[in-house]
Amino acid sequence: MKSIAALLLLLAILSCKQTSRSQQINPYHYTPVKRIVVKHGAIATANPLASEIGAMILKKGGNAVDAAIAAQLALAVVYPAAGNIGGGGFMVIHLKNGKNTAIDFREEAPGKATRDMYLDKKGNADPQLSRNGDLSVGVPGTVAGIFLAHKEYGKLPMKELIQPAIDLAERGYAITATEARWLNENQQDFKKYNTIMPVFVKESDWHAGDTLLQKDLAHTLELIRDSGQAGFYEGETAQKIVSEMQRGNGMITLQDLKNYQAKERTPAVFDYKGYTIETMPLPSSGGVVLQQMLGMLSNYPVDQYGFESVKSVQLMTEIERRAYADRAQYLGDPDFVKVPVKELVSESYLKQRMTNYNPDYATPSDSISAGVIPPESEETTHLSVVDDSGNAVAVTYTLNNLYGSQVVVGHAGFFLNDEMDDFSAKPGAPNMFGLLGTEANAIAPGKRMLSSMTPTIVLKNDKPYLVIGSPGGATIITSVFQTIVNILDFNINVSDAVNKPKFHEQWKPDVVYVEKGFPDSVKQAMERMGYSFKERGSIGRTEVIKMTPDSIVAVADDRGDDSAAGY
Ligand code: GLY
Repeated sequence: MKSIAALLLLLAILSCKQTSRSQQINPYHYTPVKRIVVKHGAIATANPLASEIGAMILKKGGNAVDAAIAAQLALAVVYPAAGNIGGGGFMVIHLKNGKNTAIDFREEAPGKATRDMYLDKKGNADPQLSRNGDLSVGVPGTVAGIFLAHKEYGKLPMKELIQPAIDLAERGYAITATEARWLNENQQDFKKYNTIMPVFVKESDWHAGDTLLQKDLAHTLELIRDSGQAGFYEGETAQKIVSEMQRGNGMITLQDLKNYQAKERTPAVFDYKGYTIETMPLPSSGGVVLQQMLGMLSNYPVDQYGFESVKSVQLMTEIERRAYADRAQYLGDPDFVKVPVKELVSESYLKQRMTNYNPDYATPSDSISAGVIPPESEETTHLSVVDDSGNAVAVTYTLNNLYGSQVVVGHAGFFLNDEMDDFSAKPGAPNMFGLLGTEANAIAPGKRMLSSMTPTIVLKNDKPYLVIGSPGGATIITSVFQTIVNILDFNINVSDAVNKPKFHEQWKPDVVYVEKGFPDSVKQAMERMGYSFKERGSIGRTEVIKMTPDSIVAVADDRGDDSAAGY
């Protein structure tokens, strides 16, 4: 039955008058492609349909920014757990003319937000309030980010970039087994946090191959197509968001939406062993922490220690511990607090940071939040793109954890983020990733919450060499760090660099998290030095594009439905 329905739908699509190339992509039969070698342009995202749409835009002459935008919009339909128009993120761009730039479309606190809004009567942080429901929602930035990137650097008309997403929402697509499992696991929360039941709620279980039709979302995307940014931040969609807030005791107002602006920022650019690393500056901590970690590592011959050796894993663990301690202490939105970035990444500071490093023992982290364990869930999503002319784009964007606040805007069809949890609700109170913060990341109206997203481009002789990034909450930065070191220092192939088990240390709690398959021999040797290990689910899902002299290699992480496409 299902295959007959799929065939009929396909025929209907093919016979339709519109000639959009998206119609050549079969939304009912697709499989992830984990590695491609191509000549002209490539993209890797969390979903095969989104990657195919990105590649189609590249083929028809769009540049890497266009392909990234089309893929982001497609992910908002085919990957509702993290792809979004109700969240926010960051885009790092390297243009063929040598310009490096970054777009900050991080969510921000609503105008009525207050520093202590998530504290209970006893003054304790109440994670329920900052992690689910309308009160957890920051003012979304994704649509503004897309329009800013397009206005400054896009090539094809926005209408062409958004139409494939509209088609998928309107006509439906077959969901993957992972999506079905996640939708099933979240049914109770969807019912709890929504007053108008969204299409994601189903009385029987979701199964792989089921069709997901999102008519409300298609209508919202059409409003954006026809009215631009105002189609989201003003008029009908804005009114629906505010009505949703009123039903669920959220804070976002029409004024908050109208005021939201994406910001173009100067990316963090630094040298690592002869390569130039271009990555995201604050309000994502990703760039500062990555620069700190690579800076500390550059003083050691880690390549000689070897991949997955006790010596290299122990050194990188200690480096991660120190960088995450600084993250907790110093980092926040630079438009609101003074952050000593220059000092934190200076050579002398990073050398001094490692003076108490002992290659034979673990350096203990003081314990103030024992027992806090990062949840074993996927969150956030990343895509990497390069085009035929030498432009490269890395985008990481998110709803925060899976399906964000779990709230779908009534009759508008899209999930809202729960990004407010990335603020420090109170010094010493961990966010959902176990990350701590101080006053620098306290809540204030209009302020952007600190992120870990690390979209990164590595340049060799001023040309793109690697395009890289990952989801994974607190583990984003360590995933990007380790993948870069795996390729640049350990010289291992991109698929292994992406897929070999990773490890993660974030200062507090004082534990080294590892993925299944991490070598026991390394664990046992480090346990004798005083380290505690804990096995957890996936650490990151890294999408990497590597440029070789005569081809482009795109690798999509094995940990999910991630897929590469190109030509
Ligand atoms: N919400 C995850 C992050 O921004 O780091």
